[in-house]
Amino acid sequence: MRGFPTLLVSTLLMGVVAAQSSPPAAWGNNPELESKIDALVKQMTLEEKVGQLVTYSAGAPTGPGTGRNDYKEMIARGQLGSLFNITGADQTNAMQKIAIEKSRLHIPLLFGLDIIHGYRTEFPVPLGVSATWDPALVERAAHVAAKEASREGVRWTYSPMVDIARDARWGRIIEGAGEDPYLGSALAAAYVRGYQGAKLSDPDSIAACAKHFVGYGAAEGGRDYNTTEIPSRLLRQVYLPPFQAALDAGAATFMSAFNSLNGVPASANPVTLSQILKKEWSFKGFVTSDWNSIGELIPQGVATDHAMAAQKAILAGVDMDMESNAYGPHLVDLVKSGAVPESVIDESVGRVLRVKFALGLFDHPYTETTSQDGIAPEDADLARKAAEESFVLLRNDGGVLPIKANGKTVALIGPMADDAGQMLGSWGGKSQAKDVITLRTELIKRLEAAQGHVIYAKGTEFRTTSDKGFADAVTAARQSDIAVLALGEDAPWMTGEAGSRAHLDLPGNQQALLEAVAAAGKPVVLLIFSGRPLILNWASQHVPAIMEVWYPGIQAGPALANVLLGDSAPSGRLTTSFPRAVGQEPLYYDHFNTGRPADGVDLSHPPTNDKEKYVSRYVDEQNSALYPFGYGLTYSTVSYSPTTVSTTTASAKDLNAGSAKLTVSAELRNTGSRPADEVVQLYIRQTGTSVVRPVRELKGFRRITLPPGQSQRVEFTLAADELRFWNIDMKNVVEPAQLTVWIAPDSTRGTPAKVTIGQ
Ligand code: BGC
Repeated sequence: MRGFPTLLVSTLLMGVVAAQSSPPAAWGNNPELESKIDALVKQMTLEEKVGQLVTYSAGAPTGPGTGRNDYKEMIARGQLGSLFNITGADQTNAMQKIAIEKSRLHIPLLFGLDIIHGYRTEFPVPLGVSATWDPALVERAAHVAAKEASREGVRWTYSPMVDIARDARWGRIIEGAGEDPYLGSALAAAYVRGYQGAKLSDPDSIAACAKHFVGYGAAEGGRDYNTTEIPSRLLRQVYLPPFQAALDAGAATFMSAFNSLNGVPASANPVTLSQILKKEWSFKGFVTSDWNSIGELIPQGVATDHAMAAQKAILAGVDMDMESNAYGPHLVDLVKSGAVPESVIDESVGRVLRVKFALGLFDHPYTETTSQDGIAPEDADLARKAAEESFVLLRNDGGVLPIKANGKTVALIGPMADDAGQMLGSWGGKSQAKDVITLRTELIKRLEAAQGHVIYAKGTEFRTTSDKGFADAVTAARQSDIAVLALGEDAPWMTGEAGSRAHLDLPGNQQALLEAVAAAGKPVVLLIFSGRPLILNWASQHVPAIMEVWYPGIQAGPALANVLLGDSAPSGRLTTSFPRAVGQEPLYYDHFNTGRPADGVDLSHPPTNDKEKYVSRYVDEQNSALYPFGYGLTYSTVSYSPTTVSTTTASAKDLNAGSAKLTVSAELRNTGSRPADEVVQLYIRQTGTSVVRPVRELKGFRRITLPPGQSQRVEFTLAADELRFWNIDMKNVVEPAQLTVWIAPDSTRGTPAKVTIGQ
């Protein structure tokens, strides 16, 4: 821990004692395997050991490259154990052949890739997938990706990204599950199960990588790579849980982040990497750095050269150097000079070998299956289902949706209507635009089959100020029964890594196009393709139907047409709060109350008296989200009975001991005339506690299908896992409290029920 402020270490360690111990993944706990690893490490030279601790991009770069290209020679010398961004059975097998046949110890290579929302079969972007609130579906989608990737030699994905993101400006909010740690944890585990399958050694399993450890999503000002300051309780309560869930599900690898966390870069942070992840959580896999994040310790200022950067990173617990060219050239000398003990290197090498053994690479180094060209029909079906479940209907005034297609003319307008590449969002894996069915293609087919007609007009481009396409768009709307606008953010430019935005409006002149088309007087359906919440204030007042559709993947057109035409109903729910103004960011539902909450104050106008003024508010905007976390409509309506609890008193001692639990339930009724897929949500609040607790916290959810007119009682259990929190002594316990619970359709509604939790 040389060179790190002890104050920070001791503050963060306060929580270690009471931490939940998690069982190491089965593959990390096998005595026979451990002796194989020890025996192999003993045979390795120092240079060969260091070789296992470096990885380089051998394909299209996903960051600023090192300029190295001598990978074949390095592999033959046993000085390179892993490559990424290289795919295809022929290519990976050819590199593997060098490792197996030419290197002294024949240790197989591991091939990695960013498979973020699909390999060839591209699913909706992760933020969209999170809006399904459907862990089983996420698991199936991840398994499809694993199956396709492993066939092409890739046995390691840099996914899931489990960074909690509470700031819509941050471009990488698109890559995660949104703002909530409970949902984020459930989906993190689902991704890992899907990628890693029943056994890592199955040929179609791939190793997951939980990233970016940790706090990357809290980038100040939402600007990518920026500094984060996260106090230890918040870190434990909000940012670490999804990582722990990934680990509990068996995640074989972790990636250390770019950001500095409380003044210590995450890729040189002994507290998070060694103390928490490796010691407290007993993680047995390995940690890779992010792309050049070890080299970036130099501009961050904690290292003056690559040797110092390598020393700090390896001592902190980063096992593998991705693209920094710091470990390769410097670790051997650092060991020889005594600056890094060889035992530290041995431990890291053991971790890398453990994952390679667990994947079965020593027995089956080559990809034996042949690549499949194209997409299996059942995988396309799953991609379509995922997209349909991810769409969030934000407004549907007067039942504009679904569109009754028969004999109708639909104006289809906007730059997203026929752009296949955009549908793949950011991090498209090995997806191909030719696999995408656009909304234009599908809608024409479907309308023609219903004796209807589509008039298409692009209207504008993402980056232009020219309105020369407006006239055609307005004419199309005038000549139609209804106008569907497909607008949004240019995915490669404005979303994902290095895609932060200071403005959250529709880019370019799309807002002007929307207003011009709306003025034509026909009913308007607005589809928003984005990787983050956008500000939709004008639309929320003037456009009768609005649906957030993210970037839906290869089945964009069929999924959108199904939902627009009513063959299926939208059932996604927001996993991030949609703001009214950028100035509200970071905006998240599970915030703390102030001593002067604005409850009951009309915030729609500037304060007019003391009661309206001296509350926690903006003088020029409301506090609330325009569309809150958990929100989403469907084509039916569902009523919720008051929330009921099994008991109104409980004991903290019994809850902590695991001998007590509460049951919370509500009756739901489909009061509409169409089937409803409802995401039922359980929220809690605790007061009278030693530390401030959020105004609401999600502690359970379930997706149910209710036929019209039918009712169902939905029941949740609250026990220690849901009720404990990091208290004033940094112990993770259930405290005596007044507990309020809601079963609700989103984070702002539901009828509360109370429970007193005594000693
Ligand atoms: C990103 C990671 C990614 C890595 C490898 C980095 O720039 O931050 O999320 O896994 O590149 O492509």
